Amino acid sequence: MSSSTAPPLHEALTPLAWLVGTWRGEEGTGDYPTIKDFKYKEEVKFDHVGQPNLEFSFNSSHYETGKPLHREKGFLKIQPGTSHLAMVNTQNVGIVELSEGEVKGQEITLESHTIGRMTFGKDPAVTKIQRTFRLVDPDTLEQVVHMETSATTPAQHHLSIQYKKV
Ligand code: HEM
Repeated sequence: MSSSTAPPLHEALTPLAWLVGTWRGEEGTGDYPTIKDFKYKEEVKFDHVGQPNLEFSFNSSHYETGKPLHREKGFLKIQPGTSHLAMVNTQNVGIVELSEGEVKGQEITLESHTIGRMTFGKDPAVTKIQRTFRLVDPDTLEQVVHMETSATTPAQHHLSIQYKKV
C-alpha cells in the first residue's frame, strides 16, 4: 500500500463510521453552577489508521478572539463485535479521562470510571465526566458534557455544542 492511500476503516469500527471526519462548532455554550456562562468554538477530528480504534482531537477556542482554550486528544475503542466503547482522553488542563459506554445507532453515551489528575492541578477536582455525541443529521454532530467536581455533586451541565462537517 502506498503511504498516500488511506487505509479502509477497520470492520470493528462500522458502528462508528458516522463519526469519522472533521467537525467545526461555531457556537458552543458553556455553564456550571460555579462559573459565568460562556460561548466557545471547537474543531473536532475523528480519524483512523486502519486499527480497531478512532483517534481524536478536540480543540476549543475563545468565541471572540479565537485564542486556543481547552484541548483534548485520545482514542475511542470499541470491543469488537459489540456496541461497548472505551475512551482514553488526555486534556491540556492535566486530566486523563477513562470512560466507557455504548454506541446505539448514531448516538454515543460515555461515563468516566477513572479521572487521573496532576498533583498540582487547580481545584475543584473533576470527579466524573459524562458525554453524549449524537448525529443530528448527516452534517451535524452534537456533543453535550456534564461533569461532577469536588465542589458539586451530582453531575451538572458544562458544555453543549453542535458541529458542522467540514
Ligand atoms: C471551568 C472542567 C471542557 C471552558 C471549568 C472548571 C472545571 C472544568 C473543573 C472549573 C469549575 C469551577 O471553578 O467550579 C472541564 C472539563 C472539560 C472542560 C473536565 C472537558 C470534559 C471545556 C471546554 C471549554 C471550557 C471545551 C471551552 C472553552 C471553561 C471555562 C471555564 C471552565 C470558560 C470558566 C473559567 C475557568 O475557570 O477557567 N472547566 N472543562 N471547558 N471551563 Fe471547562
